[in-house]
Amino acid sequence: MLRQCCWLRVASDAAAAGGGAKQKQDSFFSLLRRLMAWNSSNAAAADAAAASSSSSVAPTTVNSDIKNNSNNNNNGTTPTAFEAVEASVLTRWTCRHFDKAQPIDMKKLERVLAATTRAPTGFNLQGWYAIVVTEMPVRERLFQAALGQPQVLDAPATVVFVGDTEPECNAPQALEMGLETGYYGPLYGAAYLRNIYYFMHGGPMQTVAAAKSVLSTWYSQVTGTPVISAPVSRAGYAWKQTMIPATTFMQLATAAGWDTCMMEGIDEEAVKRVLGVPARCTVPVLISVGHATAAAAERAKVRSSRFATAHLIRWNKF
Ligand SMILES: Cc1cc2nc3c(=O)[nH]c(=O)nc-3n(C[C@H](O)[C@H](O)[C@H](O)COP(=O)(O)O)c2cc1C
Repeated sequence: MLRQCCWLRVASDAAAAGGGAKQKQDSFFSLLRRLMAWNSSNAAAADAAAASSSSSVAPTTVNSDIKNNSNNNNNGTTPTAFEAVEASVLTRWTCRHFDKAQPIDMKKLERVLAATTRAPTGFNLQGWYAIVVTEMPVRERLFQAALGQPQVLDAPATVVFVGDTEPECNAPQALEMGLETGYYGPLYGAAYLRNIYYFMHGGPMQTVAAAKSVLSTWYSQVTGTPVISAPVSRAGYAWKQTMIPATTFMQLATAAGWDTCMMEGIDEEAVKRVLGVPARCTVPVLISVGHATAAAAERAKVRSSRFATAHLIRWNKF
C-alpha cells in the first residue's frame, strides 16, 4: 500500500547515519537553501505540468457553473455566483434548537459532502475526514460526548470533522494522483516530497520541529531571507487543514437551505471513542444540520453582533 510513512523514517535514518555534526549542519543549510527556491520550484513544476499536460482534467460541473455565473450580466433574476455565496454567508446563523420532526434530504446531503471534498488543503494532502452521524443510538452517545448539547440529539445529522495529525502519510498517494491527472508535472515529485518532508518532519515529541522553528527564525533574521515556518504543533496543523472543509460544508449546507450549528464544546476523547477515531486524529468541531424550530427561527431574526469591519479588516498593515 502507498499509505505508509516509512519513507519519512528511511530518509531521516539515512540522514542521521550520514556523518557527524558538521555534515548535519551542512545538510541543514543546504536544505534551507533549497527551500528558499520553494516558490520557484513550485513555479517550475507548474510550468512543467502545463507543458506536459496534453490531457488536462475536465472542469467539474460545479466549476463551470460558477464560471458561467460569474461571467453573467445579472439581469436581476439569476443571482451571480458571488451573490449566491454572499447570501449563504450572510444568512448563516448558529441554530441551537432543531426541529426533531423535520428531516433533511439525504441525497442532497451526499451532494453537499461531495462538494465539500473540493475544499483545499496544504500540499493537497487531504488529511481530514467527515463522519456523518444519523443513527439515533450513535446520536445519543455523541450527545453525551458533546456535553449534552441538544443540537446533536435533535438535528437529523451531525457531521464530525476529524483531522489527521500525520497527513504526510498521504503524500505518495496525493503525488501519484496528481501525476496521473497531469496536475503535477513529471519533474515535480522530488520537490514535492522534499518540501513535505522538511515541512512536516517533527521528530520525537516534535523536538525537531521546535529546533527547525528556532533555527529558521534565526536564519531568516540574520540573513534577511524568509524561510518557511514549519508547523510546531501537529494538532494545530490538523485543525488548520480541517476547518477549511468544515467551513465549506457549513456554507454549502446553508446554501442547501438548512440551519447549522458548529460546535467545539465537546469531550474530544469521548467523541473519538464513540466513533472509533484513531488516536493519531483530532476532532476540532462537529456540525449539526437540520431545520430550526419555528421559535428558534423567530429568535434568529436578532442576528449575532460583529465588531466593525474596520476593526477586523486591516489594509496593508496590522
Ligand atoms: C469553532 C466554533 C465553535 C463553536 N462551538 C459552539 C458550541 O460548542 N456550542 C454552541 O452552541 N455554539 C458554538 N459555536 C457558535 C458560536 O457561538 C457562534 O458562531 C457565534 O456566537 C456567532 O453567532 P452566529 O454563528 O449565529 O453568527 C461555535 C462556533 C465556532 C465558529
